[in-house]
Amino acid sequence: MLTPSVCLMDVEVPRIASSALPGQFVIVRARPEGERIPLTVCNYDRSRGTVTLVTQIVGASSRMICALEEGECFTDVVGPLGRPSDFVELPDGEIRGRRYLFVAGGLGTAPVYPQAKYLHERGAHVDIVVGAKTAGLLILREEMAAVCDHLYFCTDDGSEGYHGLVTGQVKLLLDEGHVYDQAVAIGPMIMMKFVALALKDSGIPLVVSLNTIMIDGTGMCGGCRITVGGRVRFACVEGPEFDGYAVDFDEALRRQTLYRPQEIEADHKCKLRMGL
Ligand SMILES: Cc1cc2nc3c(=O)[nH]c(=O)nc-3n(C[C@H](O)[C@H](O)[C@H](O)COP(=O)(O)OP(=O)(O)OC[C@H]3O[C@@H](n4cnc5c(N)ncnc54)[C@H](O)[C@@H]3O)c2cc1C
Ligand code: FES
Repeated sequence: MLTPSVCLMDVEVPRIASSALPGQFVIVRARPEGERIPLTVCNYDRSRGTVTLVTQIVGASSRMICALEEGECFTDVVGPLGRPSDFVELPDGEIRGRRYLFVAGGLGTAPVYPQAKYLHERGAHVDIVVGAKTAGLLILREEMAAVCDHLYFCTDDGSEGYHGLVTGQVKLLLDEGHVYDQAVAIGPMIMMKFVALALKDSGIPLVVSLNTIMIDGTGMCGGCRITVGGRVRFACVEGPEFDGYAVDFDEALRRQTLYRPQEIEADHKCKLRMGL
């Protein structure tokens, strides 16, 4: 457990580990009757045949995933799914020297890690802003520090780093004259919306990674439907990364709460089953 509500696990899935790239995700089921849960590939080790998943307990299924003990198995793991980040197409020579700004909110730290690592290893300049409610919820500190040039922490309660939201730290960096070729924001939908507003006039291209509700993850159910630049897109097969200035965040935020009553009921039953 990285915090009381966030667990990290290495999962032995050699075929997925052999081809996963930054930006991609898997879909797991913790039990045969369980729902299908998308989780970002936070790291992959091709020689060991493992991928690292970091899961935050927010409801019934994530609670079941974090309750798995070392040596236990998922019912199934599907992946790698989604399109890798665009920069994996760039030749290493073009990545070298490019300046990236990553903004990670809460659990968004986990998906930012493989991207920052990939770019840092190829000579890009990487700055990372990580935000959390309080210092105790900042995860993967040493790992993140090892894959960037500057790491800026922000906490809502001021217990570590900048006192305030990630958008405040981002504005500070721009005011100080930092220049970036590309920004990437990953975290709660509401955070990505406000990062897009904060960067709108900066001229810096922005990519966001959308955590829409997903079911099949293969483009057939329509559950992950979102509007980008006035067009309907499916986050599972066309994303999860999109142009941050073109996403209709208000619609995406509404769709995320569609199943709230069922989610609350499912979590209640799950807690009873687990004796919590
Ligand atoms: C591409 C992608 C990558 C993700 N990566 C991670 C990750 O690395 N670590 C992590 O902890 N979480 C990740 N998530 C979010 C994670 O899938 C949800 O937190 C999880 O599905 C919640 O299920 P639950 O039953 O525990 O909670 P619930 O009580 O069912 O839901 C809580 C909230 O989670 C969201 N959610 C519910 N069901 C789904 C679903 N099937 N798909 C997506 N979101 C859902 C909704 O916003 C909901 O309000 C990712 C989501 C996507 C789409
Ligand atoms: S999750 Fe079903 S279409 Fe994307």
